[in-house]
Amino acid sequence: MRIGVIGLGFVGLSLASVLGAKNYRVMGFDSDRTKSFEIKNGNPPFYEPKLEDTMRLALKKGFTIEDNISLIVDNCKLIFITVGTPQRKDGSIDLSMVKSVIEQIGKLLKSTKNKPIIVIKSTVVPGTTINTLLPILNKKSSKKIGKDFDVITNPEFLRESMAINDTISPHAIVLGGTKNRFMKSLERFYQKLHKGIPIIITNSQTAELIKYTNNSFLATKISFINQISNICQSIPGANVEDVARTIGLDPRIGSLFLNAGPGYGGSCLPKDVKAIINFSNKIGVNPVLLDAVEAVNDYQLENLVLTIKKALGKIRGKKITVLGLAFKADTDDIRDSVSIKLIRLLLKSGAKITAHDPKAIDNTKRVFGDKISYSDSTYSALEGSECGIIVTPWKEYSKLNEKHLKIMKKRIIVDSRRMLNPNLNMRYYPIGIGKIR
Ligand code: UGA
Repeated sequence: MRIGVIGLGFVGLSLASVLGAKNYRVMGFDSDRTKSFEIKNGNPPFYEPKLEDTMRLALKKGFTIEDNISLIVDNCKLIFITVGTPQRKDGSIDLSMVKSVIEQIGKLLKSTKNKPIIVIKSTVVPGTTINTLLPILNKKSSKKIGKDFDVITNPEFLRESMAINDTISPHAIVLGGTKNRFMKSLERFYQKLHKGIPIIITNSQTAELIKYTNNSFLATKISFINQISNICQSIPGANVEDVARTIGLDPRIGSLFLNAGPGYGGSCLPKDVKAIINFSNKIGVNPVLLDAVEAVNDYQLENLVLTIKKALGKIRGKKITVLGLAFKADTDDIRDSVSIKLIRLLLKSGAKITAHDPKAIDNTKRVFGDKISYSDSTYSALEGSECGIIVTPWKEYSKLNEKHLKIMKKRIIVDSRRMLNPNLNMRYYPIGIGKIR
């Protein structure tokens, strides 16, 4: 069976690579020509563990990158749509890329004999498939949905930095649409691909909502522990690590996503919480809890700056080292990264910034250029520094020791992830641990 994947970002490229490596005949398309060229040549356009090897194997086995989508519409039984739905200023999602792809597919459907299943993996608010995408396809193709083709909503739950593993072994598959032969065929495809993984079949609006519910619940868990972390930080000696570890042992709570820190970032949780808040307001439901989740998240950056001020006194003129630029470890992605926001605030306050990250320096240079300095090792980043701030939990930061502290001008560390041994010879300001005066 031939499979088309339109949009080769984190989701699309991971899916195409995993399927291609498993001998499926995958045809990929991305409107960005430079990106397509790089992929064709075996170079992933972003850093993601295991992606390069999987993608190269897929290319070897026949994963092709197409110049337009007409071959895909003519030949593929499954066409996955994995283009982005970026955030607009009011928090709603920008559907223009999904709509444009759907319009093109609709026009091409008109003249093809193929009867494909169009699988919407892009994150879209409830009702989008039924109210927006289906009418476009109906109009442009003049064909009958459920007879000549079908559309199934199939949200994605993969995490950056774990994209390949999550694509190979997802925790669940959600299929939203009408229970007909097309649905049966997609269900069979997934049963064969992921043996034993639960498949939930529902309507498309529920499938769309499941995606937002999943991400906003994760965001809620993070904001919850961050709220508790702030309480801990104000009680001398109280430690959020012990609190989180203990409540995580209660199976009703679970241990994951209870790491207090500088707040959640990245291209998904902030965007999806904003989108569901915007959507709820539009349909007349007051999203009080989600508003609070967002407010707590925004406060985490403020709390980090307050902690830095407490540690340093004045910020103006101080040489500060920011350790970690990516929104999480094992990625080079800086979209909505707390570090980037922190650097902006510190620059505004007159600090001199040196930044370090094992993977994300090139992306950060595109934002700050020569307004800050960059170091390719933690050691050189801390040389002459008056304060080191750990923002992203890269493993190597937990190895910071006396050797690193010795070359600092002042041995002050603000640690938003509590990674260091507090007994090192330093003035230590861990987020979520109350200082004993
Ligand atoms: C998130 C979801 O976890 C995926 O299931 C989902 O598919 C994806 O969004 C998406 O919608 O595409 P991702 O953005 O890759 O995945 O990253 P997460 O691992 O969820 O981390 C998001 C942020 O939360 C990071 O800034 C991370 O540092 C922070 N975080 C995470 C915490 O502060 N504490 C935690 O305990 C966990």
